[in-house]
Amino acid sequence: MDTMNETIKQAPLLEARNLTKVYEDGVKALDNLDLQVLPGEIYAMLGGNGAGKTTTINIFLDFIQPTSGQAFINGINANEEPLEAKTNIAFVSENVQLYPNFTAIQNVDFFVRLGGRHNYSRSDYETALNRVGLQSQAFDKKLKDFSKGMRQKCGIAIAILKDSPAILLDEPTSGLDPKAGKEFIRLIGELRDEGKGILMSTHDIFRAKEIANHVGILNNGILVAQKTQAELKGVNLETLYVEYMAGYMDEAEPSLVNNLSEA
Ligand SMILES: Nc1ncnc2c1ncn2[C@@H]1O[C@H](COP(=O)(O)OP(=O)(O)OP(=O)(O)O)[C@@H](O)[C@H]1O
Ligand SMILES: [Mg+2]
Repeated sequence: MDTMNETIKQAPLLEARNLTKVYEDGVKALDNLDLQVLPGEIYAMLGGNGAGKTTTINIFLDFIQPTSGQAFINGINANEEPLEAKTNIAFVSENVQLYPNFTAIQNVDFFVRLGGRHNYSRSDYETALNRVGLQSQAFDKKLKDFSKGMRQKCGIAIAILKDSPAILLDEPTSGLDPKAGKEFIRLIGELRDEGKGILMSTHDIFRAKEIANHVGILNNGILVAQKTQAELKGVNLETLYVEYMAGYMDEAEPSLVNNLSEA
């Protein structure tokens, strides 16, 4: 028994405990979800349309209240102390909500200040925008002329400058071309290596397997499988995903995993 490891165990940056959401119309979108994201980890949530991924993220952001259970950001209850919790989180969604009539620099400046950071100069903004790969000719152009990938870059630049310990991403690579998607994944890998705790939803099974320390599969609000990167080695995640969606039970899992070979 390694008690040393027990005592130095890190506290999670993001934690869902028995998180359950029943919407007003009776739809049970989340059913006793438990998950943890430690510093320096990426957790990828997979699951079909309506599985409960966005619901999970929206509870962490306090956009909606859970029916029962709790969501913690850096140990702070996201729905009981939302303002305090939000200082510990940055959020990038598929459709980054920025101002079309502001330039890239103006958007970054506005949202970084809104996030409580007032100590940055223009050159800090330029450094962040360079880091995410926005071409410098675009820095002073209005966002309404930007492609989706360019807007996404501004969103992640804001998240980087906010420098919060935890990051939430709802389908961040959806609609990006393969090169932009790859670049985005490389960036969040860097942020993970800097110690951020990242929870992302995605439909991109291959990228999830490549980048995530933990992959969770949600089906009808239930976490039907959770695997570490080591457990997924040599496993065809797409096949595993399809089997779980088809209703495979936990008991079937060991043989299933052993029989799956890398595609
Ligand atoms: N505001 C709402 N009111 C009622 N039901 C909702 C609401 N938002 C989501 N739902 C329902 O909750 C379930 C989970 O939805 P959610 O958006 O969390 O899924 P998701 O995993 O993000 O799906 P997708 O991959 O399509 O984004 C679905 O059945 C959805 O119809
Ligand atoms: Mg969603």
